[in-house]
Amino acid sequence: MRYAILSMNALILSEYKRFTIEDLPVPQCGPSDVLVQVAACGICGSDVHGYDGSSGRRIPPIVMGHEAAGIVTAVGSEVRSVAIGDRVTFDSTVYCAKCEFCLRGEVNLCEDRQVVGVSCGEYRRAGAFAEYIAVPEYIVYRLPPTLTFADAAMLEAVSVALHAVKLSHIEAGETALVIGTGMIGLLVLQAARVAGCSRVYVADVDATRLKMAATLGADETLLVSDCDVVREIHRLTNGRGVDVVVEAVGRNETVATAIDCVRNGGTVTLVGNIASDVSIPLQKVVTRQIRLQGSCASAGEYPQAMELVSSGKIKVAPMISAIAPLRDGPRWFERLYAREPNLMKVILDPREPGQSA
Ligand SMILES: NC(=O)c1ccc[n+]([C@@H]2O[C@H](COP(=O)([O-])OP(=O)(O)OC[C@H]3O[C@@H](n4cnc5c(N)ncnc54)[C@H](O)[C@@H]3O)[C@@H](O)[C@H]2O)c1
Ligand SMILES: [Zn+2]
Ligand SMILES: [Zn+2]
Repeated sequence: MRYAILSMNALILSEYKRFTIEDLPVPQCGPSDVLVQVAACGICGSDVHGYDGSSGRRIPPIVMGHEAAGIVTAVGSEVRSVAIGDRVTFDSTVYCAKCEFCLRGEVNLCEDRQVVGVSCGEYRRAGAFAEYIAVPEYIVYRLPPTLTFADAAMLEAVSVALHAVKLSHIEAGETALVIGTGMIGLLVLQAARVAGCSRVYVADVDATRLKMAATLGADETLLVSDCDVVREIHRLTNGRGVDVVVEAVGRNETVATAIDCVRNGGTVTLVGNIASDVSIPLQKVVTRQIRLQGSCASAGEYPQAMELVSSGKIKVAPMISAIAPLRDGPRWFERLYAREPNLMKVILDPREPGQSA
């Protein structure tokens, strides 16, 4: 190991709804690990849900943060694909590479899956709201020079959207409805366009979000309080319904709307998971032969996500609300937790001022 820095600043969730900034030892870099100096790490919705203990997936004490990018500062003896000084990002999922699912490329379904920055009782894995993080080489990707660190912190969410669209099996010329134009929905909208959708409709309860969706290419924006989404979709599709609905909210009523808006034999891809249970109109799903497809995280979509963001085919800048130093993290968590309007992705930069290469 060729670094002399022994301790680092880290943002620790020391108890629910309480952060401390502490001096921690720089993580050990094993033979197949890469030590990354974090330059950007996004606050994910799942971090905000972990913050108050409601999800049970951020049991304190934990350094959260899994949407990160930075600079390689040390590599283990077996590491070949990246070198000190490389600008990199990494997948949030650490997988075993040996189980049935990993061997099929479904690494998001790994029996031994761990997510960076999560502690859930079965494991605790330090995340990237810290100056340094050590991650296995096989989840690390070198960044193209055109991507900023902040763009790169959005790649996890872009991969989630690409994965959901991939599982939806969209054919060129098909129509889609995206329910929920939060960060994931806005990325799904763009990913559906890339997949060749002829028309993409979106629905949300928030007019500001819909406005953003319009600038990102939505053909029709439906404000839930203003119109009957199901009737409007049937009007727009001559009574047929859309080929694919991607549900990116995760509530009972939005899942019901999704099923009512899809055509016979169409696909509803379920990405949203705010509610743990929803009821399914079984007769409709069975008799109209609707395919309900769950989608979890991503499995190998990072390279495609990097290409689409660097070529501008998927835009992430409109979703970045703020870039702030790590020490301001507690304040940003509070604002996100309080659901301050018009906040989407907040990115923390743990580097000292002046290090913004
Ligand atoms: N499956 C996965 O891998 C995965 C990954 C990331 C996020 N998620 C889930 O996806 C969902 C969206 O995440 P996000 O980060 O975009 O959240 P977000 O809060 O940014 O967006 C949610 C959007 O849904 C809208 N909404 C709320 N109620 C609605 C309703 N009744 N009808 C229509 N729109 C409504 C909100 O106005 C908001 O724009 C969440 O449930 C999240 O947990 C799943
Ligand atoms: Zn995330
Ligand atoms: Zn596995």
